[in-house]
Amino acid sequence: MRIQKNISLKPYNTFGIDCQAHCVIHVKTEKEARAFFMKEFSWKKPLLILGGGSNILFINNFKGTILCPEFGRIRIEKQNKENVIISAGAGINWDKLVEWTVNLGFGGLENLSLIPGNVGAAPVQNIGAYGVEVKDTIIKVRTISVADGSTRFFSNDECKFGYRNSVFKNEEKGKYLVTRVYFSLKINPEPYLGYGSLKEEVKKLGVPNLKNIRKAVINIRQSKLPDPEVIGNAGSFFKNPVVRKSAAGELLKKYPQIIYYDDPSGGTKLAAGWLIEQCGWKGKRIGNAGVYDKQALVLVNYGKATGKEIFDFSEEIRKSVRRKFGVELDREVEVVGTI
Ligand code: EPU
Repeated sequence: MRIQKNISLKPYNTFGIDCQAHCVIHVKTEKEARAFFMKEFSWKKPLLILGGGSNILFINNFKGTILCPEFGRIRIEKQNKENVIISAGAGINWDKLVEWTVNLGFGGLENLSLIPGNVGAAPVQNIGAYGVEVKDTIIKVRTISVADGSTRFFSNDECKFGYRNSVFKNEEKGKYLVTRVYFSLKINPEPYLGYGSLKEEVKKLGVPNLKNIRKAVINIRQSKLPDPEVIGNAGSFFKNPVVRKSAAGELLKKYPQIIYYDDPSGGTKLAAGWLIEQCGWKGKRIGNAGVYDKQALVLVNYGKATGKEIFDFSEEIRKSVRRKFGVELDREVEVVGTI
């Protein structure tokens, strides 16, 4: 266990917000994490569990403890001719895991290549891209209870996965530390190329095998999404809003170009990037905050933005989308702190 006091959180969030934390604790093993919850945690509240910091916006200094799980290995648990069950520790970089599965010919995660963050955050957020969500491959999630250090497994059903959502963001929020995630992958996978330009991008590279799909996804992501190493951002800042079918029908009459998809809930999902672009925000900058010029769903930090500056900017975007389309945008990014 490594403890740091009163340090800058800038290296701990991909938005690159420079604020302070009272205490950051790095735990190297599950045993250390369990010991921390059993013995020390009570006097160090509030607690924030931080993975790669790729989906978070710090508004002010964090007056509590930030716990960074750094443990984990990748293991093959079971294998037969068709399927393989693997597990990965929470502290592993997500894309390292995807690369490992692709190199071994295990299919299921390739469309999720290059998503920033760590394995532990994947089930919390139900990460998704290019027609695939991680819930499609997760069989169970191992956790430690913050209250008493005990181990609890959550089955796929118990995780209550939804669009960028799970039980860990709702009723069990802050109560469990994800330590290991178990995935069921395919030995002879069927490629999923349903998303927009993915099929064409794969075709350019050759046959639709796992390596080419991974390469194609990486190419598309790099062409549309900013690299946090170069410019601070947290991927999509908002979720794509789901509205009632009737409301979508009304919008479609007025804006026939609107981009929409049928949602499994029975509603209609609208492309928030399109809505934001139509309100004139794409590429716009106010002070240190801006909307990325190639993807309007992504907000960027031009250098010295405070969390409050990014937050206020995002509120302006929400207001204008509400005014023009009558649609409410919800944040995908987790906001930490008081406004
Ligand atoms: N669009 C615009 N203007 C824009 C951006 C998008 O008109 O500025 C249109 C696009 O032309 C396209 C549609 O909106 O027709 C959808 O855009 P895109 O394919 O780029 O995907 P998205 O819906 O904006 C979602 C995820 C991304 C994920 C991509 C690909 C959410 C909130 N975001 O974005 O995930 O990579 O699909 O599957 O669901 C993330 O969660 O951080 C993230 C990057």
